[in-house]
Amino acid sequence: MYLKELTLNNYRNYHNIGLKFDSSRIMFVGKNAQGKTNILESIFLTCTGRSHRTPRDNELIRWGQDSCYIRVLVERRVGYNSIEVFLSLKDKKKIKINGVAIQKLGQLMGHFNAIMFSPEDLKLVKEAPSERRRYMDMEISQMKPQYFYNLQQYNRILAHRNNLLKEIGKNPGAKKMLPIFDEQLSEVGAFIIKHRYEFIDSLSKIAREIHWRISSRSERLDIKYRPSIRASSLDIEDIREKFFTALEKNKPEDVQRGSTGVGCHRDDIGFEINGVDVRIFGSQGQQRTVALSLKLSDVELMYRETGEYPVLLLDDVMSELDGERLKRLFEELGDVQVFVTATDLNSIPPLELEKFHIYEIEGGKVIKR
Ligand SMILES: Nc1ncnc2c1ncn2[C@@H]1O[C@H](COP(=O)(O)OP(=O)(O)OP(=O)(O)O)[C@@H](O)[C@H]1O
Ligand SMILES: [Mg+2]
Repeated sequence: MYLKELTLNNYRNYHNIGLKFDSSRIMFVGKNAQGKTNILESIFLTCTGRSHRTPRDNELIRWGQDSCYIRVLVERRVGYNSIEVFLSLKDKKKIKINGVAIQKLGQLMGHFNAIMFSPEDLKLVKEAPSERRRYMDMEISQMKPQYFYNLQQYNRILAHRNNLLKEIGKNPGAKKMLPIFDEQLSEVGAFIIKHRYEFIDSLSKIAREIHWRISSRSERLDIKYRPSIRASSLDIEDIREKFFTALEKNKPEDVQRGSTGVGCHRDDIGFEINGVDVRIFGSQGQQRTVALSLKLSDVELMYRETGEYPVLLLDDVMSELDGERLKRLFEELGDVQVFVTATDLNSIPPLELEKFHIYEIEGGKVIKR
């Protein structure tokens, strides 16, 4: 997919801009707080209907205005898609695809795909397991709606089970209800675990090769699924049994604590470089490269799933990768259209810079160089 045109009207610090792109390498350059991230954010918004930075649409409307408008024109393998987003302080969000209003946000998915990589993605490598579970869940859900459904089920059953555990503390007789929830939780949980195994398996193969190349063949990346409940095979029945047994075994502790100590909600992903845990021992640049390898793998996975490459949005990657890694990164991208932001052109190898169409951004004004 290629983004050909972008129109912004009262979006963040932009008044009225219309840009046309006819390159697969686009760079937005400017000092801090000029509107570089705002542009990438607006592009991302037309893919998912949401900002990657805030759940509150009102923040996206230019201060002092009561509505804003974003339009993109996207070239697909076959034909074009125009996507329009209208936000208003007074009204519900409206989205049109090729001039036709959609009823549900879900209908937007797939018309324009972009992968965003921003500094916050470093959290994925550095922070608590919940970040990594969220990543895994989002990725798998996009590819398999059935997974999303099962995940919602799981969370619902888990909440019920936790309530019951608290109840048992006060009224031990309530215990007889527990096996019903354990049955349900292990059934749905087994589906989730199986799909997480499969996802991490394909992800790790792709990411390992990408990371190997970006690090100039010096770092072997291993991505490991670390499930809270281990099964010896991918047989869903086997996983379900192990899950159920683990719940049974943990029952006394669970009752004491009033919550469920084992299950999918305790899973994690491990990242190792040359056998060493990146989260604990990795350098800042290494952690960033791992997060980047993951995003590039997402690009590849999305291609395999949909038959088209998404657009890649890279916010602030220049700041922490050395020249060599940057060069490899852009080699890796081939024909994928990429939008990058930078504050300092001097940090970019001249040979790389040559390939870019450069747009200078200052206080919400965009000038093509
Ligand atoms: N709703 C809004 N209306 C007007 N201006 C806004 C709005 N939201 C944010 N801004 C302004 O946009 C600017 C931030 O833009 P952005 O985050 O795109 O900067 P940036 O160029 O990416 O900077 P950095 O290099 O620091 O990442 C801020 O100055 C902020 O005041
Ligand atoms: Mg920024």
